[in-house]
Amino acid sequence: MTIDKSKPVMVTGANGYVASWLVKRLLEEGFTVHAAVRNPAKTEKHAHLDAVAEKTSGNIKYFAADLLTEGSYAEAIEGCQVVFHTASPFILEVKDPQKDLIDPAVKGTANVLNQANKTPSVERVVVTSSCAAIYCDAIDTVNAPGGQLTEEVWNTTASIDYQPYSYSKTLAEKKAWEIANAQNQWQLVTINPSFVMGPALNAGTTTSESYTLLKQMGDGTFKSGAPKMGVGVVDVRDVAEAHFQAGFNQNAQGRYITSAHNTNFFDMAQAMVPKYGDKYPLPKKALPKWLLMLVGPIVNKAFTRSFIKKNVNVEWKADNSKIKRELGVQFRSFQETIEDSFQTMIDNGMI
Ligand SMILES: NC(=O)c1ccc[n+]([C@@H]2O[C@H](COP(=O)([O-])OP(=O)(O)OC[C@H]3O[C@@H](n4cnc5c(N)ncnc54)[C@H](OP(=O)(O)O)[C@@H]3O)[C@@H](O)[C@H]2O)c1
Repeated sequence: MTIDKSKPVMVTGANGYVASWLVKRLLEEGFTVHAAVRNPAKTEKHAHLDAVAEKTSGNIKYFAADLLTEGSYAEAIEGCQVVFHTASPFILEVKDPQKDLIDPAVKGTANVLNQANKTPSVERVVVTSSCAAIYCDAIDTVNAPGGQLTEEVWNTTASIDYQPYSYSKTLAEKKAWEIANAQNQWQLVTINPSFVMGPALNAGTTTSESYTLLKQMGDGTFKSGAPKMGVGVVDVRDVAEAHFQAGFNQNAQGRYITSAHNTNFFDMAQAMVPKYGDKYPLPKKALPKWLLMLVGPIVNKAFTRSFIKKNVNVEWKADNSKIKRELGVQFRSFQETIEDSFQTMIDNGMI
């Protein structure tokens, strides 16, 4: 695929936390971005993108589109060579997982990719999947072949009742590969980030769950301690670069684990303590597993004993060598990512 900067690119969910950094990268590169958002009239949700567009050589055009409305992306995708499909609800507590998570994730993916099938200019589609489509619980990383997650692994244990967000991402990525494998006009590449942190361009309006955990760290929710719950962490700016490379690098193919650091909640909190520990009630010790088993299910219904057993004090490990080797993506340090995340909250009055 030869990049033609005169052709527009479409980004779905363009005003989101992850997508905003990708749109910035594309605008800086001089592209015309077709930004598909639910309601372009809500200008406060995309003012940060307009500000970037003003300072760069790129252009941004907004299109109203909803994942659940068939044909909704027809106008935005017109003439595009590359499509970045990032839109998908990232909410952990929902009333109706089918309606609130699975339908928009799966039907939305089908909607966007079927539209690509009807648009001859499309040569590549990048779908924002997730490590959640690769694993369900931290214990799955230990049990994976070679003791770490690779692109070969799929989440086989999430369900509508257990970690439904992860289930929605697994089903959506499977749907994407099913549609991609049934045609030969465009190539599919998926970016599978772990827990995304780092500064938010849309700090004033973000609803991404990425900031929920950070807020809880800063507001004293974890004052008595944070669990050593195994997770991967990656910087949002590096996730944007991963998408950019997935869209335009000749070598891009298949799935890409996009995760920089194998870590846990307690270590994340510890990284904030030196700079912010005096002013904010950050957790200073690790919560013992036995205590979590006792109180966890009372505090939060998602914190079942089975969940705690499979995730707390369990090391999380993923192999990120494919994206470094094939796409040349490099990752920021853990300290930089964590500090910049917390600083975003302070600067924007989020805590
Ligand atoms: N943040 C993470 O840690 C993480 C990790 C791995 C993968 N991901 C994936 O990254 C992508 C972006 O997530 P994010 O963290 O940036 O969250 P976000 O800021 O909440 O972005 C989600 C986007 O999806 C859009 N959306 C939701 N439902 C929609 C619908 N029915 N129709 C059209 N658009 C809809 C939202 O639009 P509105 O602004 O109108 O609500 C928003 O732009 C998602 O696919 C998510 O699964 C995130």
